[in-house]
Amino acid sequence: MGRAEPLAFRRGAKPVVHARSAGAMTLEAIEQLLKDTMGLDAASIGRSAVARATQERMSASGLSDHQVYWAQLNASAHELQELIEAVVVPETWFFRDKEVYRALASVVRDGHLQNAIQCDTLRLLSLPCSTGEEPYSIAMTLLECGFPLDRFVIDAVDISTRSLALARSAVYGANSFRSGDLGFRQTHFEQVGTFWHLHDRIRQAVRFQLGNVLGSDFFPGEAIYHVIFCRNLLIYFDRATQEACIKVLLRLLKPEGYLFIGPAESGVLLSHRFISAKIANAFVFRPPSSMPAAKAPVAVSKSMDDLVRQRAAPAATRPSIPSRHAPATRPTIERQPAVSMPPDSRDAITRLADQGHLDEASKACEAHIQAHGLSAWTCHLMGLIRQAAGNARDAIPYFRKALYLDPNHYEAMTHLALLLEKQGDATGAQAMQRRLKRLTRQPGR
Ligand SMILES: C[S@@+](CC[C@H](N)C(=O)[O-])C[C@H]1O[C@@H](n2cnc3c(N)ncnc32)[C@H](O)[C@@H]1O
Repeated sequence: MGRAEPLAFRRGAKPVVHARSAGAMTLEAIEQLLKDTMGLDAASIGRSAVARATQERMSASGLSDHQVYWAQLNASAHELQELIEAVVVPETWFFRDKEVYRALASVVRDGHLQNAIQCDTLRLLSLPCSTGEEPYSIAMTLLECGFPLDRFVIDAVDISTRSLALARSAVYGANSFRSGDLGFRQTHFEQVGTFWHLHDRIRQAVRFQLGNVLGSDFFPGEAIYHVIFCRNLLIYFDRATQEACIKVLLRLLKPEGYLFIGPAESGVLLSHRFISAKIANAFVFRPPSSMPAAKAPVAVSKSMDDLVRQRAAPAATRPSIPSRHAPATRPTIERQPAVSMPPDSRDAITRLADQGHLDEASKACEAHIQAHGLSAWTCHLMGLIRQAAGNARDAIPYFRKALYLDPNHYEAMTHLALLLEKQGDATGAQAMQRRLKRLTRQPGR
């Protein structure tokens, strides 16, 4: 597991010489190739970033003709990997979002996991791990929680060979230490000049591996991990690719496990039936299969389109979709109408949204606004619900309102930045990113 294996690209997505004339092979074809291979939605990083990476690779290969480069890209897996290295965003740092590691400490101590790991090793996955700061932060957190090294295993996977090499070397500069409290650096690192070398004890707790989450042979097997960190990956994917990635995570996560995702990524989980672990600012979810059988939802993973179609169909003709964890013969439990009266409490409304009852959650939010007035919380949730329903245009004004009511609303800011970028409003997205940077630099964040 510790050794890098050949990169598994998505089956059927090997570089293919398209049947278009050489002159028509443009950046668009390169964007499509990157999407098919690694899932990258060019709009998420800006099309100019893909163009710049292509230019960089062409210069490195001594080429000036796009068509010649396209031919080389199709002929060489090595060049494709180099292009991937040039487009990935390896941005990460130790203890990125400190609430996340507090949440990790609380879930590994909670009843569910304690029972599960009594006679088992705690298994965790950091996907993507980039240059290693995330899995090493996980290791430090577990040691500080009193887990001995032989009671847990951390697998750390990324598509970038370059990032993995840095991760394995475990030598870090100032940029990797952006969290406010740096006490952990004194405990676990040795300073050599302007760099910090991670102690071997922590290095040895993590097994790094090259992998593409969309590869057909990505981590075969089921229900392997108690905890999966999949933070700041889905933001680079379009909806269909996010769905494919969530299916992989569902397969790998144990029914009693926890999924940690990034602040801008909770929207997509709403349309699956992940259950919020309700840990403030940490974005932690439990899989649908963790619900008691009587309340088990109809399907593990469904797109919003499926949901909408199912609702439109007469009840008697609705297809029943068996859960991955249910025996084939188990009777399907019909989706119950969520409520007759909209619930009023924040918890109840959030639960509705988390369970995928988006219409009901939206109505309950509106009723909450009628009763209690507009708040950043309701606006943010309304934005998330619109976004989960695939309606970015309607989500944007809600996130703006949330920010008007609470100018430091981190989640609203991250969602808005992403949506503006996707809508082609690069200026608006950059302004929002600048606000985010200022906010994360504030003490206490
Ligand atoms: C912004 S970093 C996130 C790192 C860390 N999880 C965090 O939140 O700080 C995104 C990483 O995703 C990796 N990546 C992109 N596409 C991938 C794929 N299809 N499979 C695995 N890793 C991928 C990139 O190489 C990059 O290191």
